[in-house]
Amino acid sequence: MGTLVMIGGEIRSPDTATISVFDRGFLYGDSVFETIRTYGGELFALTEHLERLESSADKVFISVPIPIARLADEVRHLLAEAANDESYVRVVITRGGGAMGLDPNLAESPERVIIVSPLVAPPAAYYQDGITAVTFKSQRPAEVAGVGGAKLGNYLLSVLAMKQAKEAGALEALIVDGNGSVVEGASSNVFGVRDGRLITPELRTGILRGITRQRVLEQCEILGLPVEMRAPSLDELRTCDEIFITSSIREMLAIVTLDGARVGSGKPGPVYRQLLAAFRASLQS
Ligand SMILES: Cc1ncc(COP(=O)(O)O)c(C=O)c1O
Repeated sequence: MGTLVMIGGEIRSPDTATISVFDRGFLYGDSVFETIRTYGGELFALTEHLERLESSADKVFISVPIPIARLADEVRHLLAEAANDESYVRVVITRGGGAMGLDPNLAESPERVIIVSPLVAPPAAYYQDGITAVTFKSQRPAEVAGVGGAKLGNYLLSVLAMKQAKEAGALEALIVDGNGSVVEGASSNVFGVRDGRLITPELRTGILRGITRQRVLEQCEILGLPVEMRAPSLDELRTCDEIFITSSIREMLAIVTLDGARVGSGKPGPVYRQLLAAFRASLQS
């Protein structure tokens, strides 16, 4: 039980798992990645995650070094070797190493890294009481580079946003773009609820096509909850009855305080609770 790493198909212990300092993932964040979790020891949406990984890689012209079906086998193998009750899995593809310089043609060959660790799930209190968040004004790097929707290794914006969140005692930062619209969280998608209608940014805003977001949208359809696909302005979001975020590791968490101000009733709202129950029930089927 514990953390295991696989680099290029070889299993390593965490203390011997090393990558060259010339690897462009290290030098430039020139890599793509996925974060996956297990439920009951089974990988959640593995194929969707690996397809998104391949699509992120395509967008930045990195070729995934082995077919994703084989990558899936490697993930399953490492998961079995780690033998945790529940695991957190990270899959990284970097453009690889080579002579120094920005030119991607300098990269010799792409490298694949898989990390499996015991899952640290959010405490139950976060689901019961909700969490606090701050807002962070910026542009997503993927959007700026014209590769919106790609899950790139360069997460510096989210790192800085989380620094601000932590300093304010908050657990997430919502990214507000140059137009004053709320697009997503530092590592989550965002939903607002107003008068029973959900509002969530559409994919063309450059957000990540969140797998949890997609599952929640499916539940909205089943439950007959109307959804408006648009990025709300920060002013509109602040006055929503409910706000929640979605991500693979955290599932769904209600934001009950935003920038120090109460959201709605100050407790996780009825739409959030209904959708969380539906989302969790859908995991059983
Ligand atoms: C920027 C960003 N948006 C959204 C998400 C949520 O995506 P998913 O539900 O596929 O985990 C993440 C997850 O890490 C993320 O980093």
